[in-house]
Amino acid sequence: MSLLFTPMELRGLRLRNRVFVSPMCQYSSRDGLPGDWHLVHLGSRAVGGAGLVMVEASAVTPEGRISPADSGIWSQDHAQAFRRITQFVREQGAVPAIQLAHAGRKASTDVPWRGGGPLAAGAGGWTPVAPSPLPFASDYPRPEALDAAGIEAVVEAFRAAAGHARDAGFEVVEVHMAHGYLLHSFLSPLSNRRTDEYGGPLENRMRLPLRVAQAVRAAWPDELPVLVRISATDWVEGGWDLEQSVALAARLRELGIDLVDCSSGGLVPDAEIPAGPGFQAPFAQAIRERAAVPTAAVGLITEPVQAEHILRSGQADAVFLGRELLRDPYWPLRAAHVLGAEVDWPVQYARARK
Ligand SMILES: Cc1cc2nc3c(=O)[nH]c(=O)nc-3n(C[C@H](O)[C@H](O)[C@H](O)COP(=O)(O)O)c2cc1C
Repeated sequence: MSLLFTPMELRGLRLRNRVFVSPMCQYSSRDGLPGDWHLVHLGSRAVGGAGLVMVEASAVTPEGRISPADSGIWSQDHAQAFRRITQFVREQGAVPAIQLAHAGRKASTDVPWRGGGPLAAGAGGWTPVAPSPLPFASDYPRPEALDAAGIEAVVEAFRAAAGHARDAGFEVVEVHMAHGYLLHSFLSPLSNRRTDEYGGPLENRMRLPLRVAQAVRAAWPDELPVLVRISATDWVEGGWDLEQSVALAARLRELGIDLVDCSSGGLVPDAEIPAGPGFQAPFAQAIRERAAVPTAAVGLITEPVQAEHILRSGQADAVFLGRELLRDPYWPLRAAHVLGAEVDWPVQYARARK
């Protein structure tokens, strides 16, 4: 029996398997709205058999976008535009999910295929916000430190975005606390130099991320799960690390967060990251064991047997795949065959099943 293809329960939700599509920015939105690209991109991965299909980082405010072409979920117009996508994904038997995000000091950049560098105000850019006025890199703009009202507005924006996500028909939301974006930048002592109750000791640095988690959890239906993605380490001495991640994950569990999605890095541009097959899975394992919360592993998971092994060895409860699912949207159907699991194929494709 394959564990990867054993259904999973999270609150009142049943997922057909434990292969999740990792959120991946497509930089293909106008005014944050999804279009045909998103329907085909997300839809084909649902057709390909994934258990959960997560929409890319979707900004909770316009200035929380990484680039002007980012996806957004800050209004009812966005909810309306996502409806046909969530409906299609559900019709294929997958669970539609969306990552709620605020880019913080990494906002206001160009799309990657035009270099991805910071966008000047005259070129459609804006001044990013952050815990402290410390730029991400020397060529990035100096962000404005959020004041008390700004912090309240961030909490409110995440709460409202959860409401729009529900109206859009999503069944799972994930709060983005990873990769150096706003909430991660509050967690890490390298980017958070505040002296008020949102900076300094761990408890203070966790305050805004925990408030956001609580607000999203309260706005989300009781019977549906809320996930959080974290960077388990900055990969920098003196930065955010696994010990602090375990403490954060335990607090997230107490707030009713159902699964912690364990990524890493992104806070600083020059960290040395020892990337290799499954290199972040040990973080998922440590957090699962020490914070007693379900976890997902992500990062260079490409082979069916490897994914199965991560689950069987107790490192995680589910796996997110990113680039491998860009290369092959039908990876889950292929993996089921390799692992000898019986799964339903789309009836339209039944004649191709071996
Ligand atoms: C094109 C692209 C866009 C990404 N966008 C996001 C994103 O929106 N949110 C996020 O948390 N991670 C994002 N990531 C990171 C992936 O979700 C994933 O964690 C990372 O690629 C490692 O997994 P992989 O080795 O399976 O690709 C992105 C990665 C890629 C390649």
